[in-house]
Amino acid sequence: MPRPAAIACAAALAAILALSLTACDPYPGAGVIDTVGQVDFATALPIPPLADSTVTPSGTRVFDLTAQRGSTALTAGAETTTWGYNGDYLGPTLVANRGETVEVDLHNELAEATTLHWHGMLLPASEDGGPDSLVEPGDTWSPSWTVDQPAATLWYHPHPLGQTEHQATMGLAGMFIVRDDAEAALALPRDYGVDDIPVIVNDLRLDDGNQFTLGTRGYIGAIGDQLAVNGVIGPYLDVTTTAVRLRLLNGSAARSYNFGFSDGRSFSLIATDGGLLESSAQLGSVQLSPGERVEIVVTMTAGETVVLQSTNVDLGAIDRIEERNAALDSLDVLELRAAAALAPSAFEPGALVPLDRLTMADASVHRRFVLNDMRINGMAMHDGAADLSVASGSTEVWTVVNSMGQPHSFHVHGVQFQLLSIDGAPPPPELAGWKDTILTRPSVDYELIMTFTARPDEKHAYMYHCHLLSHEDAGMMGSFTVVAPGRETLAQGGMEMGG
Ligand code: C2O
Ligand code: CU
Ligand code: CU
Repeated sequence: MPRPAAIACAAALAAILALSLTACDPYPGAGVIDTVGQVDFATALPIPPLADSTVTPSGTRVFDLTAQRGSTALTAGAETTTWGYNGDYLGPTLVANRGETVEVDLHNELAEATTLHWHGMLLPASEDGGPDSLVEPGDTWSPSWTVDQPAATLWYHPHPLGQTEHQATMGLAGMFIVRDDAEAALALPRDYGVDDIPVIVNDLRLDDGNQFTLGTRGYIGAIGDQLAVNGVIGPYLDVTTTAVRLRLLNGSAARSYNFGFSDGRSFSLIATDGGLLESSAQLGSVQLSPGERVEIVVTMTAGETVVLQSTNVDLGAIDRIEERNAALDSLDVLELRAAAALAPSAFEPGALVPLDRLTMADASVHRRFVLNDMRINGMAMHDGAADLSVASGSTEVWTVVNSMGQPHSFHVHGVQFQLLSIDGAPPPPELAGWKDTILTRPSVDYELIMTFTARPDEKHAYMYHCHLLSHEDAGMMGSFTVVAPGRETLAQGGMEMGG
C-alpha cells in the first residue's frame, strides 16, 4: 500500500499517469539499478537437494516437508533470518514421475499459519493449497494426488491470504520437477545438479542489520536491489558438459526479468511453465514475470566464462513506469564457468514433443477478465468474490485485459492453458506452449484457452489471480470451482459470453 504521506495524491495520480509524476508520486521507485560487471561471483551455486521420499506398500511416494525458521549468511556481517522447508532457506526439489501417486506431509513449525500451493500442478482443488487450506502452527497437512501431466518445471510456495508476499520473501519456495517418458526419450541434459540445473531467482533487499526489508516499493510491490540464485548472492556454476539445461524460475514477489547472456549468445528455449515445446526456439533473451518458468539449453565451449544477465525488461508501460517498476535495471545473475575440458552432450536443437493445440471451436464458454487496480472484474477476494464455476471436462476461452497503465499478471490454478492470441496475433515461442502464468501488459488482450480436467468438487475452489504477490495479498484474486456439467452457477465475477 502507498505510504500515508502519499495517499493524499493517490486519487489524482490515476488521472495524470501520463503526465509528470515528480511532484506527486506514491511509487517513487528505486531509480535504475545496474550491477553488470560489479558482481563478484564468489560462491558456488548451491543446488537444492532432492527431497527424500519413501514409497508405501500401495505405491504412494511420500515426501516430508517442514516449514521452519532459520538463518542464512547472505552477505558479510550478521546472518539474515530466513525461512525454508527442511532447511534454513528455500526448499528441496521434489521429483515425481507422471503416473505416480504422491503425498506430501507438511509440518508447520512456523509461529504463524501457512498454506502450501503446488503452482502449475493439475490436482484436485482440495489438495491445491490455496488460501482456504490454512495449516496452523504445529499442525500437519497431507495432500495427496496422482501426478498426471507432461514433464515440467513446477514449484511450490505458500498462499495464505494477505501473507503470501511476506512468507515467500522469507524464503518459502521450492521446485517440483515432473518427469515423463516423452521427456526421457529426448536427448536433453537431465543429470540433476550436473547438466540440469534449477535456477531460482529472487531479488532481495537487506537493511543495515542484514534483515529482509521491503524497502522502496514500485506499483508492482517490493523490489529488491540484490539478486539471490538458489539462495546465494553472486553465484557461479562450474559447467562440465557442452550443453547445460537451466530451469529458470522467477521466484520474486514483484520483479520481472529478461534473461540473456553477457556476450549476446542465443540459447534454445525448450520448455515453458507447463512443459516442453513442440520444438526448441533459438532466442537471445526470454522474459519471466513472477511465478513463470522456462527451461533453456545453453551450449558452452571449454574454458570460457559467460554471465546470465537480466536487462531491458518490457512491461509494456511508459518509460517512467517501467523505471519505477524495475524494468530498466541491468543485473548480473549467474556466472557460467566452463571447465578446461567438457564432456560432449547429445543435445541438438529441434523437435521436442507433440502438443495438442486447442482451438476456439473447442470452447463452450468465453469469459472476459478485466484487471484494474487491485481487482479483477471489479471484485477483490475479500469482497467474497466466490466467483465462477466451470464444468468438469469443458474447455473455455478467457480473455484477460489489464486496463491500467501499470503492470499486472494472471495465473490460473489447476490448469495449464494455451494462448490463442495476443491482441489478435499468434503468441511468440515463449508463450506458445503450456502456460499457467503470464505478464499482462497494459491494454493488451490475451486470449487464453484451457480445459478443466479436474473431477467435480463443489466444496473446494481453485484460484486465479495476479501473481505480483502484493497485489495477490491485496485481494487481486478470484476463485472458481469445477463442477459436474449442468451444475454451473451464474458467474458473479466473469461474464459468460457464449455457450
Ligand atoms: Cu504461484 Cu496462486 O500461485
Ligand atoms: Cu498457482
Ligand atoms: Cu497486479
